[in-house]
Amino acid sequence: MIFGKKNIVGIDIGSKHIKAVQLKDVRGSYHLERLGLTTLEPELIVDGSILDSSRVVEAIKGLIANADIRTKDAAISLSGHSSVIIKRVSIPQMSEDELSESIKFEAEQYIPFDIEDVNLDFQILGPADKEHLMDVMIVAAKKDKINEYVTVAREAGLNPVIVDVDAFALENMYELNYEVKPQENVAIVNIGASMININILKGGLSVFTRDSAVGGNMHTEALQKEFTISYANAEKLKQEKTMEGFSQEDVKAVLASASEDIIAEISRSFDYFRDTSSYENINEIVLCGGGALTPGFIPLLSEMSGINVKVAEPLKNIHIPDSFDKEYLKKVEPIVSVAIGLALRRIGDK
Ligand SMILES: Nc1ncnc2c1ncn2[C@@H]1O[C@H](COP(=O)(O)OP(=O)(O)OP(=O)(O)O)[C@@H](O)[C@H]1O
Ligand SMILES: [Mg+2]
Repeated sequence: MIFGKKNIVGIDIGSKHIKAVQLKDVRGSYHLERLGLTTLEPELIVDGSILDSSRVVEAIKGLIANADIRTKDAAISLSGHSSVIIKRVSIPQMSEDELSESIKFEAEQYIPFDIEDVNLDFQILGPADKEHLMDVMIVAAKKDKINEYVTVAREAGLNPVIVDVDAFALENMYELNYEVKPQENVAIVNIGASMININILKGGLSVFTRDSAVGGNMHTEALQKEFTISYANAEKLKQEKTMEGFSQEDVKAVLASASEDIIAEISRSFDYFRDTSSYENINEIVLCGGGALTPGFIPLLSEMSGINVKVAEPLKNIHIPDSFDKEYLKKVEPIVSVAIGLALRRIGDK
């Protein structure tokens, strides 16, 4: 390799959209090489489990072909509390090598899964407040879930070399595009169709992560129920705000009520963060995911949380060649936040 490290493609397999992004490192700045997105039928992926793998494989293959992706090496990711657990713990001080040896033993006390069923990883964060202890972040990912996602990626012709976690990918996306404010707490909130990932950064470092099993599906389901319409029509109604035979006011009211439930869930996570961090403030929300695009959501989130909300711009610091349709990119930008974070990963990263 003459220019930088070997290229990989970031593939974010969501329950509503699969996204693919490939970046090129040109003397330390990133250029967009490939970007694509495809929509999945409902119920192929439920609660983070791939229920219909052959159709997911077909969707990935179609996406790779349409986006003209030729790189095989891929970074994929997992999320959701039934797949991944991230815990910050204080344990006796030891070297990285020593911890590698004893991680199973240390993790066993904190991880609610059978330790034989998970892959473990860790990062030493530094000395803890108490003497002889250090703070460590432990990540435990269920082997069967890793296997499900790795298998569909392989069957689609990819070589998954990195299995990341959505919350960490979001953090990488943030680091590329935003200046760290040392005194501030920023909450990255990713609202997908079935999941919300939250990662709170204090002075740019992650201090809290939490996934909740709610998302934009709540808007869709509320519309389906209220107007007795199909999933497809409800999705259309949500994204286009209006359809013949429906009053815009009624649609708005149904969406607002579902938004309130979603925001209540986000607030619960924020309360939990405040309770466990001696009542720290959250200064700003950076909103990612398709859920961020639902009409009326952003002002309501800002009003209910009392926090300034900014929509993520994961492409902000990435050079976009003229061959891309910039108007389209602007429309889908928050949806590709995780995929951008994955595309930033390089083989051999920890
Ligand atoms: N303008 C829009 N374009 C696309 N999706 C939108 C739009 N407005 C709202 N949405 C909603 O965003 C959600 C999809 O977002 P996203 O692609 O981030 O989810 P996902 O990653 O596929 O899902 P998850 O990670 O939760 O499994 C859907 O509920 C969709 O209806
Ligand atoms: Mg997602």
